[in-house]
Amino acid sequence: MTARSTLSQDELKTLVGQAALQYVVPGEIVGVGTGSTVNKFIDALATVKDSIRGAVSSSEASTARLRALGIAVFDANEVASLSVYIDGADEIDGQGYMVKGGGAALTREKIVAALARRFVCIADESKRVKTLGAFPLPVEVIPMAAAQIARRFAALGGQATLRLKNGQPLVTDNGQHILDVRGLAIADPLAFESDVNQWPGVVTVGVFAHQKAQVCLLGTTAGVQTLHF
Ligand code: A5P
Repeated sequence: MTARSTLSQDELKTLVGQAALQYVVPGEIVGVGTGSTVNKFIDALATVKDSIRGAVSSSEASTARLRALGIAVFDANEVASLSVYIDGADEIDGQGYMVKGGGAALTREKIVAALARRFVCIADESKRVKTLGAFPLPVEVIPMAAAQIARRFAALGGQATLRLKNGQPLVTDNGQHILDVRGLAIADPLAFESDVNQWPGVVTVGVFAHQKAQVCLLGTTAGVQTLHF
């Protein structure tokens, strides 16, 4: 596919959202992520909704959008496995490792991704990085552990701040809080994810290394590039 050099970021998101339809398996349930790029995918999915059984969703926001477009949403507990999970990312590196959670949906995203045999990441080229960590790393935490976890990140050189919404701590779909951690350069995403996951009070760290992408559809000014990892 070719594209004009004047495509906006929003148009690049539309391109990759539409391109992701090629990974949707007719007759099956598809795993659906969260975010502005996924919203483009959901809109595209609505055009083929009669050819699929439905979706497993990673957030209340995606569930509402899917249902509004007439796509059935299944509970994750009703599904043993999925062929594909399609989601965006805040950062993706050369190995398919990602930072996710800018939309606060990281925990359910990781749960649905773990059901899928293939993670297809859809992203515009601004998300491609050499090393993860420039985007503030989202970490979903149990509220009573937030300060303790912030101190542990400080010991690693990171500055954690509590994410706010309308002046109050943002509450996730799971009733928890989000820390955003700046100042990290994550050299070994697999080890980092494993380590932080052990800290008491951490619900989910937004490094997706164990649940990495196998494919990335990257929206560039030259068109959609398909990267395999
Ligand atoms: C949601 O929690 C995130 O993981 C999103 O997938 C990520 O923030 C990308 O969102 P956009 O597609 O809106 O950039």
